[in-house]
Amino acid sequence: FSEAQQASLYVAHQIANLINEKEKQGKPAVLGLATGNTPKGVYQELIRLHQNEALSFKNVISFNLDEYYPILPDDQQSYTYFMRQFLFKHVDIKPEHTHIPHTDFSEEGIAQYCQEYEDKIESLGGLDLQLLGIGRNGHIGFNEPGSSFESKTRLVHLNSVTREDAKAAFGSMDKVPQKAISIGVDTISKAKKIILLALGKRKSDIMKLAIHGDVTTQVPASILQTLPQAEFVLDHGAAGEIK
Ligand code: F6R
Repeated sequence: FSEAQQASLYVAHQIANLINEKEKQGKPAVLGLATGNTPKGVYQELIRLHQNEALSFKNVISFNLDEYYPILPDDQQSYTYFMRQFLFKHVDIKPEHTHIPHTDFSEEGIAQYCQEYEDKIESLGGLDLQLLGIGRNGHIGFNEPGSSFESKTRLVHLNSVTREDAKAAFGSMDKVPQKAISIGVDTISKAKKIILLALGKRKSDIMKLAIHGDVTTQVPASILQTLPQAEFVLDHGAAGEIK
């Protein structure tokens, strides 16, 4: 798409169509959601569709990709806070239908917690649609370079590029958490539909590698090349020289 706005509308309308279709079937729409700058325009359009065109989220069940560890849900840098601000508080989604990894507990309980997160997704028949952004290092969720394609929800270490990009939000590098809980590459790969949205010139180098480079764990997003249900949605900035 020539503009970020058009790309965002396209993605929002795909999500809205899925929600409406599932509602007609009397089934929940199970959405995998992302945070960060990229999906903000998508969420804005979904809010508009809710307010002006009767799109309802009452049948939506959502699972977020990731959350910093440790962080309190009310912390303004937490993804729980982000989702509330940029989507949930503006639509009729039931709070008990929203899932974001909780990370305000000690490391001991994490493995079990992560397994339960996976189980919950599976018990609902898996994710109908996973929305992704991409890190400048090729991460999807917080699956940093080197993450196994078989990985599941787990505690991860954030890499220096990711922490550098989070610095502005946290104010200084020492405030950026070292770890996060992220759903795995395998968890993402099992979604029935995957949309990776990339906007702006700063993503053009990594998009070239993700789309045309080798399929390698060094560029976690490259796995999407092998998945027929995956779609890359780019604006001209992110597409750069990709033809
Ligand atoms: C966010 C997430 C990350 C971001 C990526 C891009 O939940 O999982 O993978 O999608 O870091 O972030 P932005 O959109 O801020 O450039």
